[in-house]
Amino acid sequence: MRTDDALAADKSLGGVSARELAETYGTPLFVVDLDELDLEIDRFGRAFGAREIAVGYAGKAFLCAALAEHLAATPLRLDVCSLGELVTAERGGFPSARMYFHGCGKTGEELRAIVERRVAFDVIDNREELERLAALAPASDPVDVMLRINTGIEAHTHAFVRTGGENTKFGIPVAQLPAALVRVAELPQLRLIGLHAHIGSQIAELEPFLANVDELLAAAAIAVAQGHPIAELICGGGIAVEEGPGDPRPLELEALAAGLAERAAGRGLRLGIEPGRALIARAGSSLYCVMTVKAQGRRRFVVLDGGLADNPRPMLYGARHLPEVMAARSLGPDEPATLTGRSCENDEMGDYILPRGLAAGDLVAMRITGAYTYSMASNYNRFGRPPVVFVRGGHHRRVIRGESADDVTRLDMV
Ligand SMILES: Cc1ncc(COP(=O)(O)O)c(C=O)c1O
Repeated sequence: MRTDDALAADKSLGGVSARELAETYGTPLFVVDLDELDLEIDRFGRAFGAREIAVGYAGKAFLCAALAEHLAATPLRLDVCSLGELVTAERGGFPSARMYFHGCGKTGEELRAIVERRVAFDVIDNREELERLAALAPASDPVDVMLRINTGIEAHTHAFVRTGGENTKFGIPVAQLPAALVRVAELPQLRLIGLHAHIGSQIAELEPFLANVDELLAAAAIAVAQGHPIAELICGGGIAVEEGPGDPRPLELEALAAGLAERAAGRGLRLGIEPGRALIARAGSSLYCVMTVKAQGRRRFVVLDGGLADNPRPMLYGARHLPEVMAARSLGPDEPATLTGRSCENDEMGDYILPRGLAAGDLVAMRITGAYTYSMASNYNRFGRPPVVFVRGGHHRRVIRGESADDVTRLDMV
């Protein structure tokens, strides 16, 4: 980037100037603001924890050992869905008593880790998993399990439908629950402690969550009638977040927590939730350097030095993140621009309004990229994944180094 001082924009993330971050670590750079994260954890604690609804963080949104270490010092539980996530959490010292395992196709190694009590319990997705886990566990020391059920609530951002459970691959359909419960009762190796249902992502309305907990409560009544003392219902994650820091929050946590608590009141059950995105998204930003600005046809393309490889979400499902000019020499009036990455694809990151003066060397951040960005990054084009930096109160610390060309080729056997 340019080193001259007369900047028209000179912004910071977590109290650290974007220029300093770019000069220290290079770009693209994935930046996590720990103050923002802690604010969000507090918000969840006040809304859910205060109502005795357990909050777990869905590690799939973003996990690294340093984040696990940070989360270990909070009251959060952690949901892991692979051996890689489990080992990452262990490396960060996250206690096994607060972890549980998810996934609809667990490997033998993952099931053995569950039996070895490297997590507190398993969320069983299907009948085959039930049998495979029971075959590994000793009857003298049963493994705690939940059954994931498919409540048939399919949530879209602004609507939901009851599908009868047949339209998504996850969980055991409600109609098959009684038979699964009979089988669990026959297996002394397993101890059923709860039921689980997660209905989707980026849900901005209250109603699908309430419909889901109603279905879970009905399922719990079936389980209790069959002699299973159900202690807990986990209602999944899926809470939507906004595009940019100034936008209104799509869903009020207080309203959701109050709604869930009210539905379950007097039923003798504990509730849990497991958001990923809503906890981590706002803390994360992706910092890029502008490579070139091109007027072609009727469009103006701003080409960034990242894109598809470090954030596939805009291309995968049209995700939008607010682009913010962090450092630029000259801004000028706003004009339409298409942000693209540098990969050998049409990796458009969206049409936005950006200042006319934006030029090569300026810094742009995509905001609210904390969730499913780094965790979905790839080595497409054999690009290295970016470094990850934690910022807080004007200080910065690298917690994952960026991949070099040597890293990208380290598994090649030639
Ligand atoms: C079982 C389960 N729980 C929780 C989550 C977290 O969802 P979100 O990040 O949208 O809150 C997911 C996301 O896919 C999930 O599959």
